[in-house]
Order: sequence, then C-alpha cells, then structure tokens
Amino acid sequence: MTNHRILDVVMVVLGSMLLGCCVAAQQYFSVKPSNTTAAHGDEYAVFLCTVEDKTGKLSWEKGSIGSIIYIEDSGVSDDDKYDVSGNHFIGQYDLTIYDIVINDDDEYICKISGLLPGLSIEASGDGYESLGSENEYDGAYYGTITTQDLHIAVQAEHNCASYQCEGNNTQFTDTILSNEETLYVYFPPNEPSPCTTSLRGPTGNITAGDIVTLQCTSCSSNPIAHLTWYQNNIVLNDGISLKTYVESEYNGMRTVQYYTLTTSQYSHGFTYICEAFNDEFQDVFASTQIQLDVHYAPITENRVTNSRCATNLTEQVNIICEINSNPESVITWLDQYNETLSNDTGKIIIREKYETVLKTSILTIMSVEESDFGEYYCVARNYIGSIIQTVLFSEICKDNVNNVDARGIGFFSLFDGNA
Ligand SMILES: *[C@@H]1O[C@H](CO)[C@@H](O)[C@H](O)[C@H]1NC(C)=O
Ligand SMILES: *[C@@H]1O[C@H](CO)[C@@H](O)[C@H](O)[C@H]1NC(C)=O
Ligand SMILES: *[C@@H]1O[C@H](CO)[C@@H](O)[C@H](O)[C@H]1NC(C)=O
Ligand SMILES: *[C@@H]1O[C@H](CO)[C@@H](O)[C@H](O)[C@H]1NC(C)=O
Ligand SMILES: *[C@@H]1O[C@H](CO)[C@@H](O)[C@H](O)[C@H]1NC(C)=O
Ligand SMILES: *[C@@H]1O[C@H](CO)[C@@H](O)[C@H](O)[C@H]1NC(C)=O
Repeated sequence: MTNHRILDVVMVVLGSMLLGCCVAAQQYFSVKPSNTTAAHGDEYAVFLCTVEDKTGKLSWEKGSIGSIIYIEDSGVSDDDKYDVSGNHFIGQYDLTIYDIVINDDDEYICKISGLLPGLSIEASGDGYESLGSENEYDGAYYGTITTQDLHIAVQAEHNCASYQCEGNNTQFTDTILSNEETLYVYFPPNEPSPCTTSLRGPTGNITAGDIVTLQCTSCSSNPIAHLTWYQNNIVLNDGISLKTYVESEYNGMRTVQYYTLTTSQYSHGFTYICEAFNDEFQDVFASTQIQLDVHYAPITENRVTNSRCATNLTEQVNIICEINSNPESVITWLDQYNETLSNDTGKIIIREKYETVLKTSILTIMSVEESDFGEYYCVARNYIGSIIQTVLFSEICKDNVNNVDARGIGFFSLFDGNA
C-alpha cells in the first residue's frame, strides 16, 4: 500500500525593509508553495515558490529539524535528493524532491531573507541573529499575549535594517503585522570590512611643472568620515578640495577628497598619506603611502665652486661636475677643442657616482702638461633636457694654493672605499 502523506508548507519573510535611508521595493511572494501530497516511492514532488521584487536571499528549509536544503549562491545540500529550478532572474525558485520516502513528510519552508546580505540567520548560519523563546502572559478578555525577543549581534550590515514580526493563531488565517523597527548602526570607515582607505595618484611620468592631483577615498562609514592628509608626515592643510560624499555599502557614505599641487624638482620624493576616521570611533584608517617621482632636467650643483680649478705642472687634478636630475643624467666631458674625453688614453680617469638625485663626475688628469690647461665642459643630459657646466683649469699661483688643497681632500673622502 502506498502511504500518502501531507507535506506542509509555510513561507517566511524576514525583515521587510522600507525606509527613508534604505529605499527599496518591498519583496513579496507572488507564487506561494501549496500543500502537496506524495506517495512513498514516487519519483518526485514539486513545490513552487516565486518572489516578486526580490531583494533578499532565498533559501529552502525542511521544517521539523530546520535543516537547510538550499541557499541561493551556495546551492543545494544534496544534489541527488533536491533540485531548485526555475528562472531565478524573475525570482522563481521551485523545489523538487526526488525519490520520495516517508521521512520526506514534513514542512518545507521557502524563505526570503531581508534586504541585507548575511541577515538571514537560518540561511547563513553565522549567528548574527537568534530568536528567544516565546513567553505567554494573560491578556485582555482572557486571551494570551505572546512575546518573543530577536537577538541581533549588530554588524555594519544591519544599518537601516527594519524588522517586523507577525502574529497568528490556529483559528484564523489572518496574520497581524507589527510596526517596523529600524536599526541605525554606526560603523567605522572600514566597511565592507576589510576595506582600506584608498589614495590614488597620477599614472605615468610626472614632469616638474605638471599639476598633479591625488584622490583620497574612505571606505563606507556611518557617520561620515573625516579625512586627514599628510605630506612628509606633516598635516597638510592647503591645496585640499572640499569633501564630497558617495552613498555606499550598508547605507554608509564614502568621503572623497582631492589634493592638488604644482610639482617642481623640490616636490620629488614627497610622501603622501591620508587617514579616515569618524566621530563615533577612535580607529583611524590610513591609506598606503604615495611617493612622488617628479622628473626634471639636469641642474648643476655647486656651480661656482666647481667652475675653477688649478694645479702645478706634473701634478694630478680633479675636475668636478655635480648634477642634480631625475632620472639620472648621462655626463660627457669635452675639452677645450670640443673633443670627448674618455678613460681610453690612460692619461685620464673619469669616475662617477649617483646617489638619490645627485650625480658627481670627476675627471682626473694624471700628469698635468701645459697643453692641459684651458676650459673643460661637463655636458649632462636626461630625456627632459641638458645642461653644460664650464670649468676653467689653470696653472696654480700662490694665491689659491689653499683652495686646491681643500679640493684634493674633498675628492678622496668622497670616493673613500669605492675605488
Ligand atoms: C497545509 O497543511 C497544514 C497542516 O497539515 C495546515 O496547517 C496548513 O494550513 C495547510 N496550508 C494550506 C495553504 O493549505
Ligand atoms: C502562523 O505562524 C506560524 C509560526 O510562524 C507559521 O508556522 C504558520 O504558518 C502561520 N500560519 C499562517 C496561517 O500564517
Ligand atoms: C618616462 O620616464 C622614463 C625614464 O624614467 C623615460 O625613459 C620615458 O621616456 C618617460 N616617458 C615619457 C612618456 O616621457
Ligand atoms: C705648487 O707649487 C708650489 C711652488 O711652486 C708649491 O708651493 C705648492 O705646494 C704646489 N702645489 C701643489 C698642489 O702641488
Ligand atoms: C664647442 O661646442 C659648443 C656647442 O656645442 C660651441 O658653442 C663652442 O663654440 C665649441 N667650441 C669650440 C672650441 O669649438
Ligand atoms: C674609468 O676608469 C675607472 C677605473 O680606472 C672606472 O672606475 C670608471 O668607471 C671608468 N670610467 C668610465 C666612464 O668608463
């Protein structure tokens, strides 16, 4: 004998959301599951369920033990036993149960969570919400008042969530809806967690004179986040735009602000950080650091000091050229006849050193002859521009002996240990 059983069906809507700050259409069941009978040994049974204006996550549950059959995006718990089909795009989630056995006789619940992700306790199992037990008290007209608490471990996701409960009893099909209670939740500017304050600069080479804009954007925050800018670890006040706000996750706001500067060689290497915080929390959320890489044409350093040098015949001389540039310059030495000088002759040594942005090139003439005196040209060039430093090399006379000695010492200390 086949054993006919009744499969009971209910639907539950958790938290219908309707609010000034959280505008959304109210979802409802346009096709509700209806009670179905099936026999032990039947191939399958089907429950229909379609949600209109669906905003929540849909799940199917098997009532008596509250076991989860299906959660949207996670799929069914048992592929051989269950299938959830239909056009999900229009909210259709029909449940098919295969190979009917007596244990299938149960309540099947098509459940739609509230608006916000992670809100359906039963579905997500992450325990943000739980129901207290029902308590009953004597009510008017010898009736009963039932109370029940909903416990919510408040997350940023709950901001603007509204809750309602529904009462019914066995004698009436009407259910009575409560008023709505809305949760307003403060959260620091790091939602959706983990989210970091973003600081973005220009892409591509920056050339001195360019106007550069940096953009700082906080994560979602409630209340709105303030931003603090730092240039080389010092609070920056000038050049900062007004703040603008963008609606964001969990009904929070992102704060956006710009910093604009006209670059020069001096702003090369400047570092920038921005920080976000709001009035409700101590925590400060810093962006990653941006360091400006400003390109500029070569500039001569110590131009006057390096423009002259002298030595005695047969002595050795160091002719120095110091070039500040980014990127590094190529330095070429020319003599008074515009001949390019190189190590090759054996009489000359050229040594170079580049540190941060300063390139020092030293032209050493080993054993000075009369014909070596004259002008030397240090030509420095990078992709932006070039510059020439002229050095007059002459025979020593009593007046500038000290000068020459000082230069000799400077040279050896500069290259100490590098030779
Ligand atoms: C389905 O059956 C259950 C009990 O078997 C009953 O309480 C419920 O009202 C029925 N639902 C409908 C829609 O007929
Ligand atoms: C009455 O409420 C209970 C508990 O939520 C539910 O299982 C049942 O389906 C409801 N009945 C009606 C007619 O809505
Ligand atoms: C960017 O800089 C590099 C050197 O760092 C240079 O070689 C390149 O030509 C530059 N690009 C442009 C578009 O100027
Ligand atoms: C150059 O010669 C003068 C005297 O002719 C001498 O006093 C001086 O020390 C010499 N300088 C160097 C750097 O050799
Ligand atoms: C060397 O070249 C520069 C420009 O390249 C020129 O101004 C200068 O007159 C030249 N000098 C000689 C001695 O040719
Ligand atoms: C010239 O030779 C010295 C060592 O004798 C070396 O350190 C230097 O790099 C050379 N310079 C160039 C431009 O090749």
